[in-house]
Amino acid sequence: MSKTVNSPEQTPVLRVWGGQKLSGEVVISGAKNSALVLMAGSLLCSEACRISNMPGLADVKTMTKLLSALGLTVKRDHDVMEIDASGLNTSEAPYELVSKMRASFFIVGALLGRTGIARVPLPGGCSIGDRPVDIHVRGLQALGADVHVEHGVLHAYVRGGKKRLQGGHAYLDFPSVGATENILMAATLAEGETIIENAAREPEIVDLANFCIAMGAKIQGAGTDKIVIQGVERLHSCDYSVIPDRIEAASFLLAGAITRSEITVAAVCPEHLTPVLAKLAESGITVVADGPNRLRVIPTETYRGVDIETLPHPGFPTDVQSPFMSLLTLAEGSSVITEKLFENRLQHVAELNRMGADIRLKGSVAIVNGVARLSGAPVMATDLRASAALVIAGLAADGETVISGLHHMDRGYSDLEGKMRGLGAKLERTMVDVVSENPEPATAQ
Ligand code: EPU
Repeated sequence: MSKTVNSPEQTPVLRVWGGQKLSGEVVISGAKNSALVLMAGSLLCSEACRISNMPGLADVKTMTKLLSALGLTVKRDHDVMEIDASGLNTSEAPYELVSKMRASFFIVGALLGRTGIARVPLPGGCSIGDRPVDIHVRGLQALGADVHVEHGVLHAYVRGGKKRLQGGHAYLDFPSVGATENILMAATLAEGETIIENAAREPEIVDLANFCIAMGAKIQGAGTDKIVIQGVERLHSCDYSVIPDRIEAASFLLAGAITRSEITVAAVCPEHLTPVLAKLAESGITVVADGPNRLRVIPTETYRGVDIETLPHPGFPTDVQSPFMSLLTLAEGSSVITEKLFENRLQHVAELNRMGADIRLKGSVAIVNGVARLSGAPVMATDLRASAALVIAGLAADGETVISGLHHMDRGYSDLEGKMRGLGAKLERTMVDVVSENPEPATAQ
């Protein structure tokens, strides 16, 4: 195949100079995956809601555009967002926005609950895997929705031309986070009782349920595998604050551990980090609680390899798999990392190997043999969490690591470089010329 070489364009890269000791405290932002679903949840209420601790992220901007396209008024003042859904004037979401970000699909349940109709383009595959929506669909059907796909758009209507869904029994084949969220939102305004069985138990589900409860919804059991929702006729205005981002907090703890530095992360909910803290402890790395919402990683010269299997919460989070793998590249001994949630979420292995790591890949299993050092290299962030993994590896590597594919990082980490610099890391974003053959497709997490 002949190469099409375009004229040079500019693209940002992150240059990381490894070997610096970090110190100090980093402020953890609101959780991306809560913030996005809370924004979707605000569609359920016809009065204005104020949500604080909103992270500054490209994904939040995309969700803002999506809500605006549906007729909502969204205002932001620093970390506080006011969303007024009284002007909702369509149940049809534009493809250009939904295709940018998978979380856009989480508006289906809220739209269906509030208006009885949702027409939302299918989010499609993304860089970490295929990610179907069959569990969402079966759950909404259990609540009396007719659902079909036409021309790539999911059409959902309340059966029999009624406006309100009917409470029902939704059993999930797998505890999908997004499906639990969509069904929960739809059920808040349905007639009667809904039971979600084998529900996801992630902290972000609890946050969504608490937000809906603050708006007047009747929900019990969020955070367990059985959620019971008594539908109400309408919801009201509320003030709410997003939980801290457990994945961002874990990423910074790992940055401290790999650079043998003492750093503190705050504010965090330590109980949301239990599986990550357990694996750090098993590896020989101590993390202490300095009060109810502060964690400090204590430096250690050597640490051991550990085996990790990603699982739904409270198992080890898939979103921390790649940053933790960076740490394990420099551990004593070997580690076996099994990615069980997403079939294509080990692309960072090749990039870490470019930096001198010794990782063998067998399907969804990565065997990491600890090496004595990493060396800086040009690398490509292949998805959002891989971007953090490469920054973490770069902090410990000899010389300069140049990370491209930064659009992934900007989607989900609030000022990662500014925060790292505040801890003493040496890193800088610069523009470089690119000569691209095939532009990378847009990806969505
Ligand atoms: N799945 C199905 N059918 C469905 C739904 C899911 O087969 O109808 C499968 C998926 O393909 C996947 C597994 O179930 O293999 C888990 O998917 P889940 O639905 O739980 O994930 P999600 O809701 O699409 C959210 C987060 C992800 C995070 C996962 C797992 C948001 C916006 N995204 O995705 O976050 O990895 O839960 O915890 O909340 C990230 O932040 O980097 C990210 C990818």
